[in-house]
Amino acid sequence: MRMKNCCVEYPVYEKEWLGISFDKLSVKPSFYDLATSEFYDAFYEKFLDKYSGFMDLPGDWLAAKRITAEYISGLLPDGAKVLSYGCGSGYVESLIASNRSDLRLTAFDFAEVASKFIENDSSVNIIKELDPKYKFNVIYINHVLYAIDFQGCIEFLSKIRNDFLEDGGTLIIVNHSNIPYENGIKLNFYGKLKLIVKSILKPYYKKAKFFISKRGFQFWGWERNNACYLEILRKSNFDFMEVKGFNQHSYLIVKKG
Ligand SMILES: C[S@@+](CC[C@H](N)C(=O)[O-])C[C@H]1O[C@@H](n2cnc3c(N)ncnc32)[C@H](O)[C@@H]1O
Repeated sequence: MRMKNCCVEYPVYEKEWLGISFDKLSVKPSFYDLATSEFYDAFYEKFLDKYSGFMDLPGDWLAAKRITAEYISGLLPDGAKVLSYGCGSGYVESLIASNRSDLRLTAFDFAEVASKFIENDSSVNIIKELDPKYKFNVIYINHVLYAIDFQGCIEFLSKIRNDFLEDGGTLIIVNHSNIPYENGIKLNFYGKLKLIVKSILKPYYKKAKFFISKRGFQFWGWERNNACYLEILRKSNFDFMEVKGFNQHSYLIVKKG
């Protein structure tokens, strides 16, 4: 567990995602190594077997993504060149594109089969590789940084800033903070007390759970608070603009000065 300048992060292990159990995948889960693009590809193969379209996905997942899409859409200047890095199934991108025909929206994910549902959507340009010759006015990274370690995030975001973002461009980061109020969740006194006890015990509880039952667990990444992400963004040379917490998520908006 890292605790520096109030940055709190701890590792997370998962057994399933979106109702798909990791022990059913063609790539075995690893509790020591982060999920590779092959692991995510194997996940998305099962995802495409289970769901035949976005509307089959869980209602609360769809509702939260709709709010994120609406919020990001409201931040995008007219005619902007926009990149979604780590687009996954592409639901957010399909929503943004359907409301904003003025944009040039590009989507990238290191899992090749992830965005199959939007492959025929001509308003989203799906790319398999980023080219530094082509820069963007806005880049958003929605629930991806959890999968990259702290130092890796600094290197990755520095590259995003220097190679792919126009001068004066905006970066939008969407995460789930490990502090509920940073996701816009208000707690009463008992809720706060529970949170303090939980945040002290959680890293140990997660480790214990993982050692008791290692089978099927994938090392998923890190849960962090906004202090971690702000430190990462500062070290990647971004200028701070805004942090918002709502829709059970944290939204961090920064600029390339
Ligand atoms: C939790 S999903 C989020 C997908 C989408 N942005 C959303 O919010 O619905 C994380 C995605 O990040 C992708 N991913 C994880 N690590 C990545 C990396 N290092 N480079 C590119 N994509 C990555 C995974 O393939 C996966 O599709």
